[in-house]
Amino acid sequence: MSNLTQSPAWQALAAHRDSLASTSIRELFAQDRERVERFSREAAGVYVDYSKNLINDDTVALLAALARQAGVEEQRRAMFAGERINVTEDRSVLHVALRERMGTSILVDGEDVAPIVSAVLAKMRRFTDAVREGAWLGHTGRAITDVVNIGIGGSDLGPRMVCEALKPYGRKALTMHFVSNVDGAEMAEVLQAVDPETTLFVIASKTFTTRETLLNAHTARAWFLRSGAAEAVIAKHFVAVSTNGEAVAAFGIDPGNMFEFWDWVGGRYSLWSAIGLPIALYVGMDAFEALLAGAHAMDRHFAEAPLEQNLPVLLALIGIWYTNFFGAASHLIAPYDRYLHRLPAYLQQLDMESNGKSVTLSGERVDYATGPVIWGEPGTNGQHAFFQLLHQGSALIPADFIACMQPHHVLDAHHEVLLANCFAQTEALMNGSHAKDAPHRSFDGNRPTNTICLDKLDPASLGALLALYEHKVFVQGVIWNINSFDQWGVELGKRLAVAIEGEITQPDTTGAHDGSTNVLIDRFKARRNARAESTN
Ligand code: F6P
Repeated sequence: MSNLTQSPAWQALAAHRDSLASTSIRELFAQDRERVERFSREAAGVYVDYSKNLINDDTVALLAALARQAGVEEQRRAMFAGERINVTEDRSVLHVALRERMGTSILVDGEDVAPIVSAVLAKMRRFTDAVREGAWLGHTGRAITDVVNIGIGGSDLGPRMVCEALKPYGRKALTMHFVSNVDGAEMAEVLQAVDPETTLFVIASKTFTTRETLLNAHTARAWFLRSGAAEAVIAKHFVAVSTNGEAVAAFGIDPGNMFEFWDWVGGRYSLWSAIGLPIALYVGMDAFEALLAGAHAMDRHFAEAPLEQNLPVLLALIGIWYTNFFGAASHLIAPYDRYLHRLPAYLQQLDMESNGKSVTLSGERVDYATGPVIWGEPGTNGQHAFFQLLHQGSALIPADFIACMQPHHVLDAHHEVLLANCFAQTEALMNGSHAKDAPHRSFDGNRPTNTICLDKLDPASLGALLALYEHKVFVQGVIWNINSFDQWGVELGKRLAVAIEGEITQPDTTGAHDGSTNVLIDRFKARRNARAESTN
């Protein structure tokens, strides 16, 4: 058994779980009229009701003891202090520095990064103002009408999700497009819809070596030049966001058109950096800074609040409670807000690329579950699809319901029905119902949920919500003793794809792989060659 599972705090939680076996969330409510007051909190404009969980005061105390034993407070301090807590890549983890706009210095290797962060924000403001106000024109003198962000993973999911979430604040005269997949269908669709004279391409890649992004970027550049534009005017239509100035220059993008960020910003934590350029183009720099300010307010709460009153810590601990003591293997994100429809996809990378690890910081294999599968869809759509399984399936699936009190439209009746459904689902999941002599119509209930409420989905509240999840993931990683900031698991597939790419372009059959992979490669080649022959 590992140190963690043998530890007093873990063992105490296991015993405590057994002591709760004969009760239910519904009974805990019946015993305690003030339950919701004690198990709900608000910080940075985000209200979290976590009372519909199988927890009592002892659970919270025991979980907080686990967090203290794991060194959550020390690691939190180390992250904010710029220590190299990403040990396998020997890097600091300082996305929090990107939203520290109060003039407080944050040191990386003794250097205060606040001035470079401010300088890039100022450059973003000059550029985005110029594009939005029509001072930055395409090469034929026409205003920019379309922005195409080319990036993948963290260089896509964050900006794409935020642009969707903040659509009501977006500039109507600008259409935003996101091309991430190397699947040519994505690029082909976008290129059909845009005009080279009025389109701005943002090539977003932390490393500027990602195969998909570079291929998409080259395709976009070739399309642009084929339209008759000269090489010399590429600078008016292509900008880059990266940490790799040399590769950006080698691609042919003017270094003056590069927006920099740094290796201490992880890809999936990078929307707060210049990777947020599409967001700033769409909603304006003031709104982008409000997003940063909202995240910063949650950072302060996370840094300062005691563990028992700390929202990211509480969400992390409740997640650990179900993952490690009840065998929950997945976690549902159910936003009851259409504008948050990309949030589950964004949180999949944030959580699963961070905590999808099974080796500890000291290199031992874990003997406990780590990051759950994150998934979700907006309500009420999900209710008519997979909610059946939440209510009556055999798996325990803890869920976050996210609701915004005020909508961005005037169809009040719709909003009332939407939120009625949201609240009804959490009530039904908790209470269940028992149909006498009809087991197929009975619901066990006792299915846990958090309800996360924003007054209104605006830049600041969205920033706070996202920072809440970032810090939740961090706390869980500390308790599981894994590195939440590397992603070595994606490397093998990338290497093998490069090797297969080399073979797939050759005409002859391959024998270089296992039987299955050889047949798949050869099947593709045979079909492709037959197509080529028939069109000759
Ligand atoms: O393959 C995973 C990954 O490295 C992610 O962590 C990252 O967000 C994404 O690829 C894109 O990387 P880049 O921004 O360097 O192109």
